[in-house]
Amino acid sequence: MKKREQFTGRLAVVLAMAGSAIGLGNIWRFPYLVGQNGGAAFILVYIVACALLAIPVFLSECVIGRRSGSSTFGAMRKLAPGSNYRWAGLVTVITPVLLLSFYSVVGGWSVDYLLKACTLRFTQDSAGVFEELLSSTWEPIFMHTAFMVGTAIVILLGVKKGIERFTKVTMPLLFILIIIIVVFGLTLPGAGKGVEYLVKPDFTKITPSVITSAMGQAFFSMSLGVGTILTYASYVSKEENLMVSAGGTAVFDLLFAVLAGFAVMPAVFVAGIQPGQGPGLLFDTHPYIFSQMSPWVGAVISILFFLSVLVAALTSSISLLEVGVAYLVEEKGVSRTKATIGLGALVWAIGVACSLRGGVFDFLDHLCSDWLMPFGGLLFAMFVGWKMSKADVRDELTNGGTRNRILFNVVYFLIRYIAPIGILGIFLTILLG
Ligand code: PHE
Repeated sequence: MKKREQFTGRLAVVLAMAGSAIGLGNIWRFPYLVGQNGGAAFILVYIVACALLAIPVFLSECVIGRRSGSSTFGAMRKLAPGSNYRWAGLVTVITPVLLLSFYSVVGGWSVDYLLKACTLRFTQDSAGVFEELLSSTWEPIFMHTAFMVGTAIVILLGVKKGIERFTKVTMPLLFILIIIIVVFGLTLPGAGKGVEYLVKPDFTKITPSVITSAMGQAFFSMSLGVGTILTYASYVSKEENLMVSAGGTAVFDLLFAVLAGFAVMPAVFVAGIQPGQGPGLLFDTHPYIFSQMSPWVGAVISILFFLSVLVAALTSSISLLEVGVAYLVEEKGVSRTKATIGLGALVWAIGVACSLRGGVFDFLDHLCSDWLMPFGGLLFAMFVGWKMSKADVRDELTNGGTRNRILFNVVYFLIRYIAPIGILGIFLTILLG
């Protein structure tokens, strides 16, 4: 049998996982949730949710993936033949389809904004650009179509590697651009209010719904509960120190999101934009920031910014479509072309509904992030904590007992008890509340 291809070196693993994790979740979704859920208090709850729930699930997926060397369905079959956990595979097929449908709509908005940046739209007063886009029925649908076709083409041509090479440039670029935007935003007169909003927590704002949103966002941002990280981890070589490279990626994802929050919020207060307005926040705020820069600087930065946002969104959408395609190819014997086109068309159609009806968009957004992804994550954590033997888990996370021996005990406790109880507890609070 052909030996399964493996990532070489830490950088390749981290890049592929980070490529999936870092995307619209960090840049678009996190800032608007911060605005909707009361600022600094939400950020604190988010950090706790990452540490106690999401990062343990991230490591659980890594353990399952590398131990089994296959994607979700195969992994469950190999590690626990005949157990009911095989149904976890099903969750990981349904969720990415629903998730990608609204993700692609936002991806489409980014395409639109890249084109607008190229025509120097953001060097002038840009108030109302987003409203204008949404008031058109066809423009957002057209852009969503372009984004979805782009995603499918990358998968069909098998040029994922090429895209990943591209990511090596655009991801650091995006990081640097965001830092520039943060620094520039802080120099705007009146930015202090925004900073205060981000660092002074008002603990009375923490409600069950804030906690649910923080948990959902943590899973969304780290690509959890859909089998993506699990599948990538199946390509990681045995010598790699999972705890450090995977854990490091998760922490980096968290940092990226907080930074993106600092890029948006001060300008929101300067421009008098409503922080709680929802999904349009980024698309209202960044054009304002660019319009305040000197014209050619604003032009260059806006083009580079939306270009790198688009690439970040694509590396995430590819990883989402790939889960379903891999399932149809490996489990159902469908050809790769048919699987990609069929699934892509289904996602596209649901996306059109999202684009036409804000209610459908919001419903799917919350269904996926607040329920389906944490549910998938719950199954993975329980699988590692209760179904696999502790010796196997230790073997994976400590590289055969040679590394992270003390940290392992903490992580194992989080995986076995804290993450499952935490996720279940939040579900119950919502259901009973
Ligand atoms: N984590 C991605 C983002 O932040 C979204 C995603 C979720 C990608 C699940 C793959 C799987 O944009």
